[in-house]
Amino acid sequence: MVDYEIEKEAAARASLAFVKDGDVVGLGTGSTAAYFIKFLGEKVKAGFKVRGVPTSARAQQLAQQCGIPLVGLDEVAQIDVDVDGADEFDPQLCLIKGGGGALLREKIVASASKKFVVVADSSKQVAALGKFPLPVEVIPFAEALVARQISALGAKVALRKTEQGSPFTTDEHHHILDCSFEKINHPASLAATLSAIPGVVEHGLFINMATLVLVAKGSKVTELRAL
Ligand code: 5RP
Repeated sequence: MVDYEIEKEAAARASLAFVKDGDVVGLGTGSTAAYFIKFLGEKVKAGFKVRGVPTSARAQQLAQQCGIPLVGLDEVAQIDVDVDGADEFDPQLCLIKGGGGALLREKIVASASKKFVVVADSSKQVAALGKFPLPVEVIPFAEALVARQISALGAKVALRKTEQGSPFTTDEHHHILDCSFEKINHPASLAATLSAIPGVVEHGLFINMATLVLVAKGSKVTELRAL
C-alpha cells in the first residue's frame, strides 16, 4: 500500500529549496501544504526571514502556530513564491484545486506570485483531469441556477455539505458545488464556460498557472515542468 503521508511530506520538504531568505511566500491549504508550512516554520525558528500570505483561515492559523510572520495582499506588491497542493494535475500541469474549499483565495494568491510551486503525492498525477469532482465556488443566491447550468454541461453536481449536513461555507461566505465530469477533455474551454456563468465566483481549474509540480513517489521527488 502506498503511504501518501510520506509522499506529501517529501514533496513539501523539497519545495523549501524554492524559497529564499527574505521572500514573501504564499502559504497553501490542505494536508500537503500543511507540511510545507510546518517545515517553513522550523526554518523561521532557526533564523530564516520570510513573510507569509495565507490562502485560508486554516493556513493562517497553522502559520501563526508555527511562528511565520504574516502579511496581507494589500501590504506587498508581489509574492515571490507560492507553495500549494492540488487534487489533480495533468501533463500540461493544469490543476484541479479546491478539495479543501480554499480555491478562491488559492487562485488569487497563485495569480499574484512570481513562482507557483505545486506539491503533490503520486495519487494526484493523472492523464486527464476530471475524476476528482471539480469544485466551483458560487454565490448561495444563485446556487440552484448555477447547478442546473453545470449539470447541462454533463456533470453530476452536488452541493458540498459539512458533517452536520449544512452547506459548507468558504472563507468568503460562498458555497461550493462539487461537479463530477469524470473526464475533462478541454480544461481551458470548460474554465471559460464556467467563468461566464453569472453566480460562479471561481472554479478549481488552474490553467497555465503552475510553474512546476513536485510529485513524490515514495520518498523520491520529481520536478515536473509543463510539456
Ligand atoms: C485546498 C486544495 C488542496 O491543495 C487540495 O485539496 C490538496 O489537498 P491535500 O494536500 O490535502 O491532498 O486545493 O482547497
